[in-house]
Amino acid sequence: MRHDFLGHVTVVIVGGTGDLARKYLWQGFFQLYADQVGKGHTFSFYGGALSTTEKGTPLLFDILKELACPAELSVERCALVKDQFLHLSKYHQLKTTEDYENLSQQIKQQLGQEGIIEAGRLFYLSVPAFAYADIAEKINNTCRPPSEAWLRVVLEKPFGHNLYSAQALDKKLSGQLKEEEMYRIDHYLGKQVVSKILPFRKENKKLLDPIWNKHHIERIEIVLKETLDAKGRIQFYDQYGVIRDVLQNHLTEVMTLMLMNLPANLSNSEEILQNKLNFLASLQHVDNSNAVVGQYQAYNGEVQEELNKTKDYFSLTPTFAGVVIHVDNAQYEGIPIFMTSGKALDERVSYARVLFKSNVFCVQDPNNVQCKSKQIIFYLGHGTLQYPAILLSKNLFKPELVSSGDWKEVTEYKDVNVLGLPLSDYYIQSPVTPREAYCELISHVFFGRKDSFISAEGLLASWEFWTPLLEGLSRVFPRVYPGGVDNGNLLNFQLKGHQVAFSHEAVVNVINPGAEDNFQVMQGKYRSSEMVSAWAQELVERLASDLLLAAEEAIREEGQFHLALSGGSSPVALLLDERCVPHTESGSNFRSIHDLLLQHIRIPYFNIHPMPVHLTQRLCVEEDGGPTLYEKEIKKHVNGSSFHYILLGVGQDGHTASLFQDTKLENDEENLVILTESPNKPHQRMSLTFTAINRARRVGVLIMGKSKHELVSQLSRIKGESSKYPITKVQPKSGTLIWYIDYDALLG
Ligand code: BG6
Repeated sequence: MRHDFLGHVTVVIVGGTGDLARKYLWQGFFQLYADQVGKGHTFSFYGGALSTTEKGTPLLFDILKELACPAELSVERCALVKDQFLHLSKYHQLKTTEDYENLSQQIKQQLGQEGIIEAGRLFYLSVPAFAYADIAEKINNTCRPPSEAWLRVVLEKPFGHNLYSAQALDKKLSGQLKEEEMYRIDHYLGKQVVSKILPFRKENKKLLDPIWNKHHIERIEIVLKETLDAKGRIQFYDQYGVIRDVLQNHLTEVMTLMLMNLPANLSNSEEILQNKLNFLASLQHVDNSNAVVGQYQAYNGEVQEELNKTKDYFSLTPTFAGVVIHVDNAQYEGIPIFMTSGKALDERVSYARVLFKSNVFCVQDPNNVQCKSKQIIFYLGHGTLQYPAILLSKNLFKPELVSSGDWKEVTEYKDVNVLGLPLSDYYIQSPVTPREAYCELISHVFFGRKDSFISAEGLLASWEFWTPLLEGLSRVFPRVYPGGVDNGNLLNFQLKGHQVAFSHEAVVNVINPGAEDNFQVMQGKYRSSEMVSAWAQELVERLASDLLLAAEEAIREEGQFHLALSGGSSPVALLLDERCVPHTESGSNFRSIHDLLLQHIRIPYFNIHPMPVHLTQRLCVEEDGGPTLYEKEIKKHVNGSSFHYILLGVGQDGHTASLFQDTKLENDEENLVILTESPNKPHQRMSLTFTAINRARRVGVLIMGKSKHELVSQLSRIKGESSKYPITKVQPKSGTLIWYIDYDALLG
């Protein structure tokens, strides 16, 4: 490793006024400065971005003035240090090659004027990955320091999308920068507990060695649960999904540190890298049978909104994944490693847990120490504990403190449970002062500690492991989950040999159609009501004939037939809900029913009643009273406001007609028609209410297409009503409900 000498260090944050810089990076560099000031190095800091100096300077200043004082500094000292830091920091436009040249000139000039030698230049690229190659080229061509000084370029994930794109990016970058100059960040490696996994294993080697193997370990769990969703960052997220976003990097790194061979020397980066590579090479291949994937219910709507997609667009990007991994070596073979992460789950927590086998059968006295689970937990944060820590069941052994200066033993036990045991059942150690991962890593870049970063070989090895699974999953429909505590047991998955599957499968009362019964229409039960199922064409024919029968029956008995059709992609029609757009526009349900149906059949136009969404040249304005008008029309024409037949569809989020999860229904009791708001465009809608729908003599619900499979499975599991799925509120009072579900939707 290069011997660093004292001298001037220039830090350049490219993307220095962006979100990450604002949240973490400047704070990290301020901490670095506060730690290093007076120890021999001098510094200057540049925030660079595409904007002009006039625009960028105030933006940067706004960020810098908000910097928080490091905990160890007194108020007076902090004020002084912050003042110095602000003086040393400035904005520099970084757009063209000339801008970079100009920056380099400035650095040289400053050093020349002040007569100081240069120790190194640190570029932190906080920009989208597509810009890396171009910036690396500019740095290489214009901003290299003299040969005695170092150049370090920090890069943020994503580093590619799969093995091939990671290789391509690596090739481009390695044409401009040497491997020793690149610092690929995985912020999990800067988490205090993660950085102590190897030291913990080393400190406690004697006691761990006999049990750190397949004879004693029952299972390993590596978990990152989040309550947050992906809203606001769908542009990025929809191309990546949970596996690329956190499993391929953060969780793989944690697993590797837990299970790789311990290096003889923890400060030997090369040895660590080699052991990591050996471990990754020993992983068994994973494919679709080793994984389950899910997508939170609101996700698809967010995709349609943020990516400007149409209503029938369906994203297959998983926001939840559970994978089981096995290691192919004598030490660990057969141990299941469960790796899981998801957005919109019930709690925020991340940990890695080693659960040991127990050969004791406790007949009584479950509180006996022998009966309690034996586990080691690397607890990264949040959850019930709320702070990072390493926990060992007391029935294992008392561990050595991982680092005597900055870690402490915790002996005050909050009254909480962590993974099945009360805190008092654990030996707990935790960092004395909490430090942000970015702060840690910025200081590691400064000290050239390459082992805290991702090497090109390590990166490619990880992609090599994950890419086949990602390719396999690219055509799999994720299980849709409602989000938060409502997920219940929907995402639980279980081992079947070396494979995994969701523990709770859809309960649909139908026999899987074989090739020979391709044309068969099946009757069954679905959500305790009648269900008709068939391939799409036969299903629609059956529905049409059922409608005809209902019409003939009504005409026979009453001389008239009142049918309400809804819009959307399954029953393409009108009347019972409408988007607030003029009837002549293509988004209008009336327009589509006209084009697809009405213009081909002979129904007098005064028998057709489109919703009055376009009154006095305005769309769905409350004062225009469209719903009241329409309600009057229903009351006038439809005996007892009870339609003979209402045909509904269901959206992927469980909405029906234009009744959405958030639709306020306080007045639903009295009203037959209301104005509603859709989460998707066009937002304004007019709709029949549940009151009107549930008065119908018959309600048919038509669900078609593979993209509705998860919804069909979920609805089958929900008993009674669920506020998350408006369709479950369709329960005709004295009429009947029939589900028409095609095989694609039913069987996936
Ligand atoms: C990031 C992912 O790398 O890690 C995010 O892009 C995720 O989607 C985050 O939320 C989790 O990090 P932490 O530190 O909050 O556990």
